[in-house]
Amino acid sequence: MKKNIYFLFTFGLSIIVSTNTLAILSENHVLPIEMEGQFLGVETCGSSECHGSAERWRNATVLMKERLIWNSSRHASAYDSLKSELGRKITRNLGLPNGENVKQCLSCHSTYVPNSQRGERFSLTDGVTCESCHGPGGNFLSTHVYPSSTHEKNLSAGMTPTSEPDYRANLCLSCHQANKKNQFKHAFYGAGHPRLRFELETYSENLPYHYRYDSDYERRKGLVNGVQSWLIGQVLSTIQTLDYLEEAITQAKFIPELASFECFSCHQNINKPYSRKNSSFEFGTPSVYSGNLLMIKAIASTFPNSKSKRLKQLIDELMLPVSQKQETLTLIKEIRFLVQRLKFEAPYEEYRHIGPKLIKNIVKYANQETEISYGKAEMIAMSLSSLITSASGQGYLKSGSENVYEKSLDSLYTAVSNSMNFKEKRFKNTLKTLQAKL
Ligand code: HEC
Ligand code: HEC
Ligand code: HEC
Ligand code: HEC
Repeated sequence: MKKNIYFLFTFGLSIIVSTNTLAILSENHVLPIEMEGQFLGVETCGSSECHGSAERWRNATVLMKERLIWNSSRHASAYDSLKSELGRKITRNLGLPNGENVKQCLSCHSTYVPNSQRGERFSLTDGVTCESCHGPGGNFLSTHVYPSSTHEKNLSAGMTPTSEPDYRANLCLSCHQANKKNQFKHAFYGAGHPRLRFELETYSENLPYHYRYDSDYERRKGLVNGVQSWLIGQVLSTIQTLDYLEEAITQAKFIPELASFECFSCHQNINKPYSRKNSSFEFGTPSVYSGNLLMIKAIASTFPNSKSKRLKQLIDELMLPVSQKQETLTLIKEIRFLVQRLKFEAPYEEYRHIGPKLIKNIVKYANQETEISYGKAEMIAMSLSSLITSASGQGYLKSGSENVYEKSLDSLYTAVSNSMNFKEKRFKNTLKTLQAKL
């Protein structure tokens, strides 16, 4: 990994509570690349007269140097990665032509739209561009620059609602997690592709920021609470995993598609098997990737209702190794239904109060796990970091406890800093100490 995301964490960034809580229930989930209209390219959006200005515009509500920030992001070099040594190795191993010529790679490493939608200055080589996220510029370029333009007008012209956690989660997940539409196969990993991982709030913070949450932003779009964004990310990520898993199991041939299973249930040192204590465990059988499922348990406990207990039970069952096809499919269906409900039942107005409670529940459930795989540990670390940062920024942590949290996070991140050398014992001990102090 060239740049490790864990080193990019900042502590204490404050995001205040959301004001436009209803907006997140919007159901507009058409992805930018599925939209009609012309894609104009980064040279158009980010020219030096527009979003590539070195100096701030007078009266502009946004930074206007977005391109300069994007330039240094991995999205800007996503296409180039296909031509790198590793990129070449992956396609060679897969028996594919070079990555820059195949949909299987371009669908995530560029703004992959049909020829007829590519404007004059559009170029696939730009990688993951402004329009990969904000929608085809042809639809709103001329109108969004008027002094009379408003956020609502831009949205109705076809700019995507990236500030809404729901929309944003589906957008990012479309490339950052295996799904039905944009298939990511175990074969890609086998060929050398880095393992995909995603937590909405962590990744949003490391986008990197090319916008500023200030009072003007709040007036225009409303601020999103980090807790809310984390929660929506977990829910939608879980639903996507379940959908993909369902398909993998339904269509299973000799061996099912493994990308939504827990990597580390198979990839572990054969000489040091996990010390599994759970009596219902079937040794040697793979399990489902459960990083998100663990978080859903914590969420369900934070908003107890008549179904939370059932949801937790079902998740515990799904987290066991998968061996019965029909039973697993039934479990998936019921869990998905309850998780979807969770999204609508969570009391959005209370987000700012629940950060500490969620943190407590995550630590509690993590400590109940007999084994913590690397994938799960990574999700726990990213989630705790997002929630602690958000709760701390809003002044919702017990005073004096910041130091404890900061130290614990450092230790958790040290433990997961290298997937080949995961320090499970240190990770678990840190969680135990943290639980005692909460
Ligand atoms: C579903 C989306 C998706 C598909 C399809 C995909 N990639 Fe990726 N790729 C990613 C993401 C996301 C990352 C970054 C992972 C991370 O580090 O979190 C990445 C990282 C990489 C990297 C490492 C870049 C670096 O600098 O570390 C290479 C090389 C790469 N991909 C090549 C390919 C090739 C070649 C293909 C086609 C066979 C392909 N990818 C298909 C999403 C995808
Ligand atoms: C990977 C997705 C992604 C890419 C690529 C991206 N953005 Fe953004 N952009 C976002 C998100 C998420 C936000 C924050 C939510 C919001 O305000 O809509 C945002 C916010 C913005 C804002 C709003 C700032 C405000 O105060 O309202 C502007 C302007 C912007 N981006 C321009 C650009 C430009 C220009 C590029 C290309 C050089 C670009 N973005 C590339 C996702 C992206
Ligand atoms: C069109 C596909 C696509 C979309 C949509 C997308 N990404 Fe990415 N993202 C990638 C690829 C591909 C990479 C890795 C690029 C490389 O290094 O080659 C990446 C890399 C990243 C990284 C760097 C990860 C690291 O380990 O350093 C972050 C952070 C990130 N994306 C956040 C987001 C967020 C947040 C969103 C949603 C607002 C988003 N991305 C939407 C394809 C996408
Ligand atoms: C059901 C078991 C199973 C699961 C789950 C699984 N793999 Fe594999 N993986 C295998 C097998 C079997 C091979 C082929 C090993 C060989 O060729 O010797 C393999 C090969 C690989 C390889 C090539 C290196 C090697 O040892 O050959 C990589 C990298 C890899 N898998 C990554 C992943 C990732 C990432 C995940 C999770 C998203 C994952 N695997 C999930 C069984 C699994």
